[in-house]
Amino acid sequence: MPIQKVGVVGCGLMGSGIAQVTAQAGLQTLVREVNQELVDKGLKGIDKNLSRLVEKGALTEPAKTEIRGRLRGVTSLDELKDCDLVIEAIIEQLPAKRELFSTLDSLCPPHTIFASNTSSLTITEIAAATNRPQRFVGLHFFNPVPVMKLVEVVKTIATDPTVYEEMVNFGAQLGKTPVRAHDSGGFIVNRLLVPYLLDSIRALEEGVGSVVDIDNSMKLGCGYPMGPFTLLDFVGLDTTYYISQIMFDEFKEKRFAAPPLLKRMVLAGWHGRKTGRGFYDYADPANPKPMSL
Ligand code: 3HC
Repeated sequence: MPIQKVGVVGCGLMGSGIAQVTAQAGLQTLVREVNQELVDKGLKGIDKNLSRLVEKGALTEPAKTEIRGRLRGVTSLDELKDCDLVIEAIIEQLPAKRELFSTLDSLCPPHTIFASNTSSLTITEIAAATNRPQRFVGLHFFNPVPVMKLVEVVKTIATDPTVYEEMVNFGAQLGKTPVRAHDSGGFIVNRLLVPYLLDSIRALEEGVGSVVDIDNSMKLGCGYPMGPFTLLDFVGLDTTYYISQIMFDEFKEKRFAAPPLLKRMVLAGWHGRKTGRGFYDYADPANPKPMSL
């Protein structure tokens, strides 16, 4: 059965991006947040992105109106009960994800496929909260979702191969390049990216170089679009901290352990761009000021 109606749970940075690309791909999309204020905030971001595409001539005004017509914000999970696919993009905490899917499992018909956008938890431990592990996959998108071309499609030992192929094709239908990944914590990208980001913090702690010099090194020396500290602030230090804890717990390897500086910054509320302060201070967003140790 082709996917016609998609539910996205969570309308933050990732959820709103996912909802935007599913609506742009021609699919009816319901995006759910816990209250109207958060729904409005997420939809406002999507409107801004679509308007930017119109300004650049990448989208016509009527096409934008059509995309917005396919997209609806809701606050009740009940509204997702006739979706063919539900993609979860809520907080990176296992109990919250398990509770959500357990509720969705009792609301949605048997054909509905469930997907999690988790960055570091295993799909198996989330799917185990439902009675449909065979119709459960990981769909891991990258920030900013409308721009980044990759989606990791994750299968567990229980995922039905037909459902999995359907989801690989779905990733391509969204205009992304799907890669196939097994259900190992962090999948492919975060398995490699997280130790790199944490090592950058360790290098800073050890005085190898300053924030700006380490950023410039990886940007100009390796051609990365952002240096590690700019990327850490972009992804969110809190998010990176949660991910590192989950991956350390899974693998018990030092490369996934959060450096003390990361922990201290998270405890101090320095979560990166979204809080105005991380490895850079964004009081003047056009001229971020690097921290010095
Ligand atoms: N939403 C939508 N579009 C955006 C955007 C956003 N938040 N930010 C930038 N764009 C668009 C711009 O409109 C522009 O479009 P155009 O080329 O058609 O004009 C294009 O992206 C490039 O933007 P800019 O010229 O403003 O800036 P950059 O050239 O520096 O690109 C970037 C911005 C695409 C974010 C680039 O710096 C980049 O690729 N950075 C690395 C991002 C990355 O590594 N993401 C993965 C993070 S890890 C993750 O998400 C996994 C999780 O599990 C942790």
